[in-house]
Amino acid sequence: MQFKNPLVTGGCGFIGSSLVRQLINLSKSVTVVDNLSTGHISNLTDISDNKLNIVQEDIRNELPMRELIRDSDVIFHLACLGVRHSIHSPIENNDVNANATLQMLKISKEEKIDRFVQVSTSEVYGTATKVPMKENAPTLPHTIYGSSKLAAESHALSFFRTYNFPSVVIRPFNSYGPRCHHEGDSGEVIPKFMLRVLNKQPMLIFGNGQQTRDFSYVDDTARAILNAGFVSGIIGKTINVGAGKEITINQLAKLIADVAGYPNALTEHTESRPGDVLRLYADSSMASDLLNFKPQTDLISGLKKLLNWYKEKKLSPGELLKEEKSLNWFPN
Ligand SMILES: NC(=O)c1ccc[n+]([C@@H]2O[C@H](COP(=O)([O-])OP(=O)(O)OC[C@H]3O[C@@H](n4cnc5c(N)ncnc54)[C@H](O)[C@@H]3O)[C@@H](O)[C@H]2O)c1
Repeated sequence: MQFKNPLVTGGCGFIGSSLVRQLINLSKSVTVVDNLSTGHISNLTDISDNKLNIVQEDIRNELPMRELIRDSDVIFHLACLGVRHSIHSPIENNDVNANATLQMLKISKEEKIDRFVQVSTSEVYGTATKVPMKENAPTLPHTIYGSSKLAAESHALSFFRTYNFPSVVIRPFNSYGPRCHHEGDSGEVIPKFMLRVLNKQPMLIFGNGQQTRDFSYVDDTARAILNAGFVSGIIGKTINVGAGKEITINQLAKLIADVAGYPNALTEHTESRPGDVLRLYADSSMASDLLNFKPQTDLISGLKKLLNWYKEKKLSPGELLKEEKSLNWFPN
């Protein structure tokens, strides 16, 4: 067993639930803490393992968090509020993403946990000035999400530098795959496009569609995060996790149309999203060297897996599309 009782914050979310699936075989028990603000218990209900303990709690609540942290050896900290949420609710976004992380770090130091894996984001960089982007690229976040996540990862590393606290920062680039969000202000580009294509609706592109992203399949992202929980020689480091492939949103729309079997699917351009980052393209050589990270699922295979997942879901693509919101950075 690699872990005794890892604590996964945000474990009912998209990436967290993939991480929990991988951790369960490597741990005596796994504890998830999630307030279900964007995550779903149903993301974990197929794991019928009594080693899994799910606690519905807000990470901002100090006393219950202390109890949970005290009982854990390694913390994988994923709970957060997202980029579009930060546009309409910046104070709450920063409170969860930055302030609650600082409080968790303080408790974790006091409770002497073995390792704290801070899951950050490529959004801390803002638009790339030089590609592919190494970990020492400038951090000029565009949104409060990006700046609150930058504050959180800085807090994690300051704890290392000041107190020799065992923290490590992982910066995933964009992820997609089963259990990704299409709904409300959590909705991401790949699920939104795919559900629109399946419903013969035009894919809505924010701005000119020349902005680029570097997409990883969720299980690849989660495996890198998991490895950060135990490999040696990475404490105090910041490590990118991306596929190392750049694609424009216009190209992505075409690819999704082809994979879904509707090559003539339409696109429609609309206003740019405030704070949208224009270019992201990862250099993940550090993850490859230190975390043994090798992406296993390329974009076309991953999109096919996502398509199959939608086909097997209880709710039809039509019902799912009703939960989608087109300009999803405005308050509900
Ligand atoms: N999805 C991506 O493309 C991507 C890319 C880079 C980084 N990340 C990072 O990965 C992590 C997970 O992201 P995700 O895409 O799985 O998001 P997600 O929204 O699916 O997961 C976040 C989880 O945190 C929970 N949560 C939110 N606020 C909470 C609170 N106050 N208390 C307890 N739980 C709370 C939510 O209910 C949800 O289950 C985040 O830290 C995010 O910054 C994600």
